[in-house]
Amino acid sequence: MAGRGPHERLYDSISSFLGKNPPSEIPKKWERFSDIAILPSGSFRDESWEDVVGPDFWKAVAQGLNVERLGVMGEVTGRIRKSGVKMLLGDDDWVVRRENGVDYGYHVTKCMFSAGNVNERRRMGEVVRRGEVVVDLFAGIGYYSLPILVHSEVEHIHCCEWNNDAVESLEWSLERNNVSSLCTIHRGDNRETCKSIGKVADRVIMGLLPTSERSFEAAMEVLSDSGGVIHIHGLAKPDEYSEWAEEVMTGICNFREGSRARKIIVNRIKSYAPRWDHVVLDVEIN
Ligand SMILES: C[S@@+](CC[C@H](N)C(=O)[O-])C[C@H]1O[C@@H](n2cnc3c(N)ncnc32)[C@H](O)[C@@H]1O
Repeated sequence: MAGRGPHERLYDSISSFLGKNPPSEIPKKWERFSDIAILPSGSFRDESWEDVVGPDFWKAVAQGLNVERLGVMGEVTGRIRKSGVKMLLGDDDWVVRRENGVDYGYHVTKCMFSAGNVNERRRMGEVVRRGEVVVDLFAGIGYYSLPILVHSEVEHIHCCEWNNDAVESLEWSLERNNVSSLCTIHRGDNRETCKSIGKVADRVIMGLLPTSERSFEAAMEVLSDSGGVIHIHGLAKPDEYSEWAEEVMTGICNFREGSRARKIIVNRIKSYAPRWDHVVLDVEIN
C-alpha cells in the first residue's frame, strides 16, 4: 500500500510469511547499509518466535527490509572490542560501508562500527591541517584515520592496532581509498609499538572506551617535543565533563615532565549508558 513505512513493510512481509499477524513485537529500528540489515540484539528472541525462526523466516524478514543479508547485533566485548554481530541470512559477512566519501570494508561479525560516531569521523577529516603527522593509537578499521587520509592534507598517519581482523580491514580500505602510501600500520600493543614510532606526532588520537589511560604514556612517547593536540575519548556524566577533563589532563601530563595541558573543548559524541556520555576531549599539550 502506498505510504507504508519500513516498519509496516516488515510487518506485512512477516504476516504474509506466517499467514497471520506476528505473535509479538517486531523490531522498530535496525541498521541498513549496502545490501545488509543488522537487527537490534534480542530481536525475535522471545519464546513466541521459537517455532517460527529459521532460514525461510529470515528470507521473509530480509525481503521486508529490502536487503539480501541479515545480521543481529550483540554486545561489543573483550579487549579487542570484537563485534557481537551474528549472521542470520547470508554466509558472507564482509561489508563495505560508504560514509562521507570514505569506504570502510570489514567483517561485520569480527569488527565493530559505531554508526553513532558519524559526526566525530567527519570532524576528524576536518581538523587536521596540511603537513601534520598523526598517530592513531587505537586505529581499529580506520574509523578516524580513513576520513583524515581522504579529506585532509595530512603528511602521514601511523596507525596502531593489535586486532589482526581490524588490521586486515584497514589494509583493504587504505587500498580501496587510494591512500596506502600515506599510512604506516604498527601491529601490536601501542604501549610497545609507540617506542619505534618516535616523537613525530602533531596530533594523537585515542579512541578507546571506556578509557585509554593505560596508553597515556604511549601518547606522550609519540607526541612531538614541541607538543601538539591529543583527542582523548572517554565516558563522563552529563554534568561532569569539566571534572572528567581536568582528571584526564592531570593524568596525561604526569608522563612528560614540565608539560602543560590546555583544554580546547569537550564534545559529546553520544549517550553511552543511562547518565553516561561518550565524550572526546581535545587538549593541547606543550
Ligand atoms: C573501540 S575501537 C575504536 C572504535 C572507534 N573509536 C569508533 O569510533 O567506533 C578501539 C580499537 O583499539 C584496539 N586496541 C585496544 N587496545 C589497544 C592497544 N593497547 N594497542 C593497540 N590497539 C588496541 C582495539 O583492538 C580496537 O580495534
